[in-house]
Amino acid sequence: MTSSTSLLIFSFLSLMSPHLIVPAFAADSNSTSNSTPILLSCGTSGSIQDTGSNRTWVGDIGSKYISHETSETSIIPYQNPEVPKVPFSAARIFTSNYTYSFPLSPGRYFLRLYFYPTNYSNYLASDSYFTVTVHPYTLLSNFSAFLTVEALNYDYLIQEFSINITSTTLNLTFAPSTKYLNSYAFINGIEIVPSPDLFSLSPAYLASGGDLTVFPYDSGMAFQTMYRLNVGGQSLAPSGDSGGLYRSWDDDSTYIFGAAFGVTFQNDSNVTIEYPKTMPQYIAPILVYETARSMGPDPQIDLNYNLTWILTVDAGFYYLLRFHFCEIQYPITMSNQRVFNIYINNQTAQTQFDVISQSGGIGRPVYEDYVVNTAGSGKMDMWVELHPDTATKPEYYDAILNGLEVFKMSMVKTILQV
Ligand SMILES: *[C@@H]1O[C@H](CO)[C@@H](O)[C@H](O)[C@H]1NC(C)=O
Ligand SMILES: *[C@@H]1O[C@H](CO)[C@@H](O)[C@H](O)[C@H]1NC(C)=O
Ligand SMILES: *[C@@H]1O[C@H](CO)[C@@H](O)[C@H](O)[C@H]1NC(C)=O
Ligand SMILES: *[C@@H]1O[C@H](CO)[C@@H](O)[C@H](O)[C@H]1NC(C)=O
Ligand SMILES: *[C@@H]1O[C@H](CO)[C@@H](O)[C@H](O)[C@H]1NC(C)=O
Ligand SMILES: *[C@@H]1O[C@H](CO)[C@@H](O)[C@H](O)[C@H]1NC(C)=O
Ligand SMILES: *[C@@H]1O[C@H](CO)[C@@H](O)[C@H](O)[C@H]1NC(C)=O
Ligand SMILES: *[C@@H]1O[C@H](CO)[C@@H](O)[C@H](O)[C@H]1NC(C)=O
Ligand SMILES: *[C@@H]1O[C@H](CO)[C@@H](O)[C@H](O)[C@H]1NC(C)=O
Ligand SMILES: *[C@@H]1O[C@H](CO)[C@@H](O)[C@H](O)[C@H]1NC(C)=O
Ligand SMILES: *[C@@H]1O[C@H](CO)[C@@H](O)[C@H](O)[C@H]1NC(C)=O
Repeated sequence: MTSSTSLLIFSFLSLMSPHLIVPAFAADSNSTSNSTPILLSCGTSGSIQDTGSNRTWVGDIGSKYISHETSETSIIPYQNPEVPKVPFSAARIFTSNYTYSFPLSPGRYFLRLYFYPTNYSNYLASDSYFTVTVHPYTLLSNFSAFLTVEALNYDYLIQEFSINITSTTLNLTFAPSTKYLNSYAFINGIEIVPSPDLFSLSPAYLASGGDLTVFPYDSGMAFQTMYRLNVGGQSLAPSGDSGGLYRSWDDDSTYIFGAAFGVTFQNDSNVTIEYPKTMPQYIAPILVYETARSMGPDPQIDLNYNLTWILTVDAGFYYLLRFHFCEIQYPITMSNQRVFNIYINNQTAQTQFDVISQSGGIGRPVYEDYVVNTAGSGKMDMWVELHPDTATKPEYYDAILNGLEVFKMSMVKTILQV
């Protein structure tokens, strides 16, 4: 497990300040000059609007992004009514390596890959295994969209990555596995959305006993979104996201361990959510902070359990967990009223966390980042637990959470052992 002596750090550290003042980000501001979002509907021509966000997708047939390498396109003959038509009604299929080249300005982007695994004419869904790369990052490896949707009991899949592009081209390569007979790669849709720097505005701490060791960020790191949860609230569609980032926020209730769901609630009607000046709105939309889950009103019950989320992840990687907090109901307006501990994978990430102390008051959002290392390979359950602190003798033995994001981190730069 993680300890400060086995911490891997990178040769280039970014400067971090918890109180950095950053300008508000807008998709059309100069901060992402000439990089408008790209929405590519693969295996189609012309342009078409999706029904979820009313955005226009452009077909990749004849587009400037495709290469001259060989590929086939396939229109799905029967569309599952559970699956949105755009961009899932057609696919581009690759039996050898194939690269899309997207000219754009350097900077950080969300790259979203849309997969609907089904039989594409003679290509069986179960035969497809492939690798996806954006040099130097391997985004997906030995990837079977078919097995992934089967395991999750989904119909389709959207894989989201955050990548810092340092040149003026994003080359996205699909490479079918050579280890399997009849293997092929495919893609239904590609979305590229310029993003502000979401990751280095405040320090991330190692979940290593609560001593708040800062994890050294590298601005070149890539992140894969594993979970993005609107805790205590409903799923939020991409069109409801802040900063024009089109992120999806899911309902957290399916990840709660056992029957200890705690209680969910909304802001009191006389509480308005106001972002601190140091916190840009693109961190998370207001709707995330307007709902929360707490342990419940009975201190004896709360002292005897942990409010627990179980999140399946791939073992053997570092993960960044971003916790979003906001006190939204009276009478909690002061420090030392609700104080709690945060555990990740049975290790203390933070003791005596007090939302009001950190945020400055009721209706004020705050977020905290923690990093955990995981050992082994294959799938594992990541445990995220909250428990009341008793050492500070707070007024209420309780805990609260409004949102939770989990990102798998890629390590690409030269690494040094401490
Ligand atoms: C972008 O930058 C240019 C030159 O600095 C400036 O004239 C223009 O007003 C800026 N546009 C926006 C939207 O900020
Ligand atoms: C999309 O457009 C339809 C029809 O104009 C409208 O009813 C709907 O609210 C729009 N959806 C979004 C997310 O803007
Ligand atoms: C794909 O084809 C295989 C083999 O013919 C068949 O067993 C399977 O049911 C088909 N899958 C779908 C989703 O149609
Ligand atoms: C690829 O994934 C399949 C299915 O999970 C697994 O059985 C196989 O061992 C993997 N192959 C490689 C080369 O990693
Ligand atoms: C992208 O691919 C093109 C064509 O192969 C190549 O010339 C260019 O150097 C590549 N750029 C990057 C950043 O990989
Ligand atoms: C195709 O891409 C894979 C994975 O990036 C690479 O290992 C392989 O060498 C490439 N094959 C060819 C023929 O370029
Ligand atoms: C992207 O990487 C470059 C070079 O390492 C760095 O200067 C820049 O700040 C990074 N941008 C973001 C948004 O992380
Ligand atoms: C929560 O606060 C928002 C403003 O921040 C307000 O518009 C909304 O009505 C409040 N919600 C409730 C349930 O009162
Ligand atoms: C806001 O409303 C709550 C309950 O709805 C009440 O307990 C509280 O006193 C009110 N606070 C203020 C400042 O009006
Ligand atoms: C954490 O504790 C639970 C319950 O004791 C156990 O099932 C789980 O395997 C532990 N997880 C890790 C990563 O140690
Ligand atoms: C809560 O989780 C921590 C860390 O996994 C564990 O040490 C503690 O025993 C748990 N408490 C309860 C009441 O389950």
